[in-house]
Amino acid sequence: MDSITATTCTAEQRIVIESFLGGGDHRTLADDVLDGLTRPFKELPPKHFYDAVGAELFDQICELPEYYPTRCEREILEQRSAEIVARTGAAELVELGSGTAAKTRLLLAAMHEAGTLDRYVPIDVTESMVRASAQRLVEEFDGLRVHGIVGDFERHLEHVPPPVDGGPRIVAFLGGTIGNFTPGSRRRYLRTLSQLLGPDDFLLFGTDLVKDPAIIEAAYDDSAGVTAAFNRNVLTVLNRELDANFEPDAYDHVAFFDRDREWIEMRLRARRPQRILIGKLGLRLTFAAGEELRTEISAKFTPERIRGDLAAAGMELVESLTDQAGLFALNLARVRA
Ligand code: AVJ
Repeated sequence: MDSITATTCTAEQRIVIESFLGGGDHRTLADDVLDGLTRPFKELPPKHFYDAVGAELFDQICELPEYYPTRCEREILEQRSAEIVARTGAAELVELGSGTAAKTRLLLAAMHEAGTLDRYVPIDVTESMVRASAQRLVEEFDGLRVHGIVGDFERHLEHVPPPVDGGPRIVAFLGGTIGNFTPGSRRRYLRTLSQLLGPDDFLLFGTDLVKDPAIIEAAYDDSAGVTAAFNRNVLTVLNRELDANFEPDAYDHVAFFDRDREWIEMRLRARRPQRILIGKLGLRLTFAAGEELRTEISAKFTPERIRGDLAAAGMELVESLTDQAGLFALNLARVRA
């Protein structure tokens, strides 16, 4: 009978999942389309890439020989997680855009190893991924509690639960997704993130680094055409969700590094004139032959830019860890004292 206290807490009891996605969700796509596709330079935010097909294509991108960021970030986490955990003493990991949480495991394992691991707070728009990773992780790490948030890491940050007394927290934003923001909104978002941090807490964020443009451009225009399919998939999302009639194959995939702005852009370029009807919005629009729709920017960073952005957001860089080849950085920051 002395094992009762040890067994009362089942894996399920250690999982809490809250969803903040309601019917208003299609609204943001509709708003983004109304706003972005009626501009003189057509544009859509990259978050709409990630339906089930898009998420699968993104996983395939991460395996491509040309796409180095995922491998580089994993290498850094494999080699330096213990050091990050020792430096922070973290008991809690909040992860923005957690996805399959594949790389996160490395951090959680290091926290477990150090004996500080208490809670994991994943935030992702895909409920099935939040549930599956929560289940898998509480089984893998005994004593771990998971408080999952099904929501958008831009709109639902206020629902991140307050910290527990157990110890410091790390707020992690991996993959280099911070690069999807334009410079002004990036600094604003970093400032919002700083509000999740107490004096002993840390922000851990991945940034792809400025390098030979040929390496960057190959990563976003792979020879197998997976990135092209990922890019065109956003048109399929519009066709399905908004009853539009785009012909994805009528657009070329374009990816180029803008040396002045230090970001890569992806665009879809109409091969011939297009007439589009977006049924649910009652919106008609045209593409001229060669006209482009910008679907993503992905900023590449220099150490100066990382420091400058953090300073503008009231934070400071504690340490920047890079992979052996120096292609990608994982940055540890805290609120400026
Ligand atoms: C998920 C935003 C980090 O910018 O590299 C991959 C998305 N786009 N290939 C990136 C992406 C084209 C990726 N992020």
